[in-house]
Formats: sequence, C-alpha cells, structure tokens
Amino acid sequence: MILKFPEGFLWGTATSAHQVEGNNNLNNWWHWEEGGGSKPREKSLSACDHFNRFDEDFALAKSLHQNTHRFSIEWSRIEPKEGEFSDSALYHYRKVLEALHRQGMKPMATLIHFTLPQWIAQKGGWENHQILFWFERYVRKCVQSFGDLVPLWITINEPMVYFFQSYVMGEWPPESTEGLKKKKVVQHQIEAHGVAYHVIHEENEKHSYKAQVGLAAYYRVFHPWNVSSPLDRFVVKLRDWVFNLLFLKAIHTGFIDFPICFHTEIPNLKGAWDFIGLNYYTREKVQFSFKHSHHLFSKHIEPINEKINDLGWEVYPEGIYEALKQLNQFQKPIYITENGICTQADRERQQFIVDHLSQVHRAIKDGVDVKGYYHWSLLDNFEWAEGYSPRFGLIHVDRNNQERIPRDSARLYAEIALTNNLEVRD
Ligand code: FCB
Repeated sequence: MILKFPEGFLWGTATSAHQVEGNNNLNNWWHWEEGGGSKPREKSLSACDHFNRFDEDFALAKSLHQNTHRFSIEWSRIEPKEGEFSDSALYHYRKVLEALHRQGMKPMATLIHFTLPQWIAQKGGWENHQILFWFERYVRKCVQSFGDLVPLWITINEPMVYFFQSYVMGEWPPESTEGLKKKKVVQHQIEAHGVAYHVIHEENEKHSYKAQVGLAAYYRVFHPWNVSSPLDRFVVKLRDWVFNLLFLKAIHTGFIDFPICFHTEIPNLKGAWDFIGLNYYTREKVQFSFKHSHHLFSKHIEPINEKINDLGWEVYPEGIYEALKQLNQFQKPIYITENGICTQADRERQQFIVDHLSQVHRAIKDGVDVKGYYHWSLLDNFEWAEGYSPRFGLIHVDRNNQERIPRDSARLYAEIALTNNLEVRD
C-alpha cells in the first residue's frame, strides 16, 4: 500500500550546534565536560566538525532528497562576552543559511538548544531573571542578522527536558536536584518564549520578512503500568500535565498554572506561536510510588518485553500518533521537529522510520495538520551526557577521520522524501 503525504510536505533532518559543530568552548556544556561537573565525562571536542563542513553536509543531505534542515545557532559563539557580539560568528551563520538556500533546503533555525554561554551560566543561567533581557537582546540580534534567510524559527528546544535533566534528575549542568524549588527556570523559559515570539515578528515586520515561530516540545507518551489501577492512571495524568502539556497550555492560554505558578497571567503570551514543533522518541510506563514524591509520585518501569533502542528507550510508533492527536487540541500546524532511534543495527532504523511515518500519516488522515518531519539526526553526533556511543545518524560518521557514510536508512528516507510517499506492506 502507498501512503501519500500532503503536497509540499517538508522532509529533513535535525541537528544542534553543540552536538555537531565542534569546539564550542565558550558554553556551559564545554565547561562541564572539561571538569566543571561532579565527575569526568566524555568530551565533545571536534564533534562532527560540522562548523567547517556544513557545506558538504548540506550537499549530502540534498543528494538524499531532503528539502529542509533544522539546526541551532550557538548563543555562546554569537555573544561570547556579555553584550559583545561576534561579527565572525554572525558571518558564519549567514554562510550556513546561504548554503541551505543554495541547496534549496528550507532552514529551520533553533535559537537555543540546551547550551548557554558560560558567562550566563556563571550568573545562574535560567534561574536568573535577567536572562529575559539577555535572551531578548540575543534574539533581536539574530533576527536583525538573519531575518531575511529564516522562514521557520524555533525559540527554545525542549524546555521541560532541560528542566528535568538539569534541575530534577541532576544529570545535566548545573546538576541540581532541587526540582520545584527551581521552578522559576520553567517560568523564565515560558516568558522567554513569548518575548522571542514578539521580537522575531517585530523585527521581521520592519523589512516585510515573513517567518513562522514555534518551539520544539518534547512529548513523551505515558501509560499506566497497571491500567486498572486508579493511582497509576492518576500519576500518568500528572506526568502528562507537568512534563508534556503545562508549557504548551501556558502559551495557548497566556496563564502559567500549578505547580509552576498559581494561574499567573503573563502579558503578551497568549497565542504566541504560529506552529508547534513535536519531538517524539518513546513511551514510558509509570507506576504510582509514594517514595518518588520528587518525581510526581511516579516510578518509571523499565520495558521488559517491548522493543528498545540502544539507550533502553522503548520503541513505540503508536506514540507519535497519540502525541499528534493530543497536540491537535491547540489547533496549530505541527512540524515533527525530532524523531529517531539510536541503534547500531541500521535495519532497526529503517523499520523505525517506516513504522513512525505510518503513524504520522494516520494522524494526517485524521485531520492533524502536520507540515513536515525532521529525522533526528543527519549525522551520528555527540549525545550530551551519553557521549559518542549512541548512534542516531542516517549518516555514519567515522570519528577517526570524519568520513561520512550514508546508511541504508538514509537511502530509504531519501526515497520517501523524493516520492513524498511511503510504501508499507498491507
Ligand atoms: C532530544 C534532544 C536532541 C537529541 C535527542 C536524541 O531530546 O533535543 O538534542 O539529544 O534527544
């Protein structure tokens, strides 16, 4: 059976600066890798050297029929010192954007993908209310410099993942486990999103540039460990609310709700998005647990019989359908801004692509307005705290010589992108 995707559907891949560029030595992650954290860890070093090889990487993506690309701008390169903007970094990202246009690939630019300039981290990062001022100034500079070249902007990547990893689990810098004591981190990110949305439109209007603005939201599907347990079902709702929906509801309604605030209205926030970016990877089964009060009274039960990826995350294609249906309540166009699998076995990646895209197609058939799909990722890259062993790339990267070798999954994805069709067995 042939599943047809809507005309003009965008097919691409996503990356982020720190994971592919190399030598981002002015941000907080680099500092952390270099011994700023509680234990030694793998360093990003030259990553995929994409900073120097972006041209050939985009040419390769284009040869694989991708017609769009999502990448991130590294704030610490643009503003290496407080209030000082780097002309060479601004020039660099213009070159990146021009290269994408030359290839006929629509750019989607992310303004912040987890990393912060070290000078901001030293002043408390997202905990410091002043970040709203710093972020606004940085965003304005980016839009003034690249507004003519960027049709799709992402303000912030996965703000809730950032909060959970950095302030609940303590696994990412600044390794805090204070959780809701640091809830202002979430509030600042919500406010920063709203500010960025208006700055982008305001600056673009001065020149009649057109762009759409959204954020990339991680959506993890939660299911109860025991479907007949009311407590398991309750904690599923709680996690879904806090982790998946609270941030989005705030933008939709203009109010930040419990447990971050008590229905606090944020000026100019309501409706401050033109689309939603969905990052989907996995499902989690959760069980009520009194002992896990800091995790919303819920415990993650490791998958036992289910298929998992190399990091132990369950592979659950139906989840992307479920996530799309949930997000459809906001009645905004949706881009799938990330979806992928880390595996050494490329056959699994091929199956993953087919199974997930079938579910995306199912959602489109049900009326969800999905505009495009960005596979994570173009290249094997630096997977944050996990380092280089997880392989997420459609393209294998040899760490010794930076050679790029497209996998069969890259060719399968290229065929889908070229034909705008997915062939599935009946
Ligand atoms: C997402 C991140 C992305 C990458 C993938 C595997 O949560 O946005 O940078 O690490 O996971």
